[in-house]
Amino acid sequence: MHIAFLNPQGNFDPADSHWTQHPDFGGQLVYVKETALAMADQGHKIDIITRRVVDPAWPQFAAEFDRYEGHPNVRIVRIACGGDAFLAKEELWPFLVREWVPNIETFYRSEGRLPDGMTTHYGDGGLAGALLEARTGVPFTFTGHSLGAQKLDKLLGGAADLNDATLAPLNQRFHFAERLAGERLAMNRAGKVITSTREERFEQYGHPAYRAAVDPNDDTKFTVIPPGVNLAVFDATSRNDSEDATAAFLEAVIARDIDPDRRNLPIILLSSRVDHKKNHIALLRAFAEHPELQALANVGIVVRGADNALQQRSRFTGESRELLDAMAALCDQAGLWGKVTAFPLEGQAELAAAYRYLTGRHSLFCLPAFHEPFGLAPLEAMAAGLPAVVTKNGGPSESLYENGVAFGVLIDPTDPDDVARGVMQVVESPQAWQRYSEAGRSRVLDRYTWDRTAAGYAAALDEIIGRGPAGQTGQRLPIPPYFTQPDPANDFTTADLAAIYTGVA
Ligand code: F6P
Repeated sequence: MHIAFLNPQGNFDPADSHWTQHPDFGGQLVYVKETALAMADQGHKIDIITRRVVDPAWPQFAAEFDRYEGHPNVRIVRIACGGDAFLAKEELWPFLVREWVPNIETFYRSEGRLPDGMTTHYGDGGLAGALLEARTGVPFTFTGHSLGAQKLDKLLGGAADLNDATLAPLNQRFHFAERLAGERLAMNRAGKVITSTREERFEQYGHPAYRAAVDPNDDTKFTVIPPGVNLAVFDATSRNDSEDATAAFLEAVIARDIDPDRRNLPIILLSSRVDHKKNHIALLRAFAEHPELQALANVGIVVRGADNALQQRSRFTGESRELLDAMAALCDQAGLWGKVTAFPLEGQAELAAAYRYLTGRHSLFCLPAFHEPFGLAPLEAMAAGLPAVVTKNGGPSESLYENGVAFGVLIDPTDPDDVARGVMQVVESPQAWQRYSEAGRSRVLDRYTWDRTAAGYAAALDEIIGRGPAGQTGQRLPIPPYFTQPDPANDFTTADLAAIYTGVA
């Protein structure tokens, strides 16, 4: 198959420039790139379609075409819209409609052949897919990654009044009206909607904002395809240039922070961002309240931005400072110094090397987040051999447990006793550690590889391409006037946004 991946936000280049340095260069780009490369390796011809940017501050994205070395079946194709300057994803909407979509069609017509199918990513890519399908008949899948309705829920914080004062500033900044209307069109007209988990399907797509656009119970519409772990980086058998240096670094921080008689104990590793949602303090509370746990393990916390974040808290501001202060206060109160260490790790290579080194020390990975939408980080740690003790809320409940078989330990992140129980379950005996280490790694190798993700996409595309133009199912939403003529006369109003968001429209 010849497949176009539509991803207007961020950009792609062989050096993965700006990854994680800008909000539009996050996990979605990793997902699109890895799925595209794995599909190409399975014999398909892939175009990653993104936006052309001719901007001195973003010099990597000026050429019309780019390639990933060793992957001749993949082209990065940059299509102009909205001028030359880099634009944040929130600013793209009118330009997608006016220029990007027509220019993509012109590009393929000039090559003499349209792609067989498209995968579209995020509301902006999904809208473009719906508009292109309307012009060309090429079918598409939609992968939301993150939906606007849930983001608006969070930003409104439960505010009941949907009026100009509450909605207008958010709409001005994030363009929620275009986003929600674009998402509705995308999910309605897509041949398949792809989610990473069942929870994402039912919870996110069940929001009133998407009522009448899509039915989350429609099995012909939805397919759950989880993303994969990059095994070249994270697998227990992989190696990288930072392997030895990372091991030496960890030995040095253990010697710096851990009491001499405790240095051979395993480490319970927290390696997510220091953010309220990730709930690091839950593990420290469990550790403080359970001396039996302290007898068996130490705690290690990865914090970027300082050699020793718990001791150098003045280097941090805002939320991270508050959270580090709370952790340090708990260490003071409960006498945990000498049992807890904090250290930085930069980039995926160092993280993977650290996971492998800690596997050698029979350690474990812990993520007591309040909610984790998918939970790729625990799967990366499991691929390296670390048993995972992870929140039961969200994706991990599907990835770490199935049909009565546990591939890790699920914990209630709001209950320190349950967190302690979960950790104890792994560290109580070498046999238990070995069992979880092996079960976790096999689970990743069986289920969570990009190869499998790509095969899932290929099957979904094959099905919708096979249906042909007559195979469109369901009631098709009309295209709102703004998406045919994006000008002030057709602009969405705040009242339109309120109506879409509450499911009245
Ligand atoms: O990769 C980053 C990502 O996951 C993208 O899918 C998306 O751009 C962003 O995070 C979340 O977007 P938003 O906050 O607009 O929902």
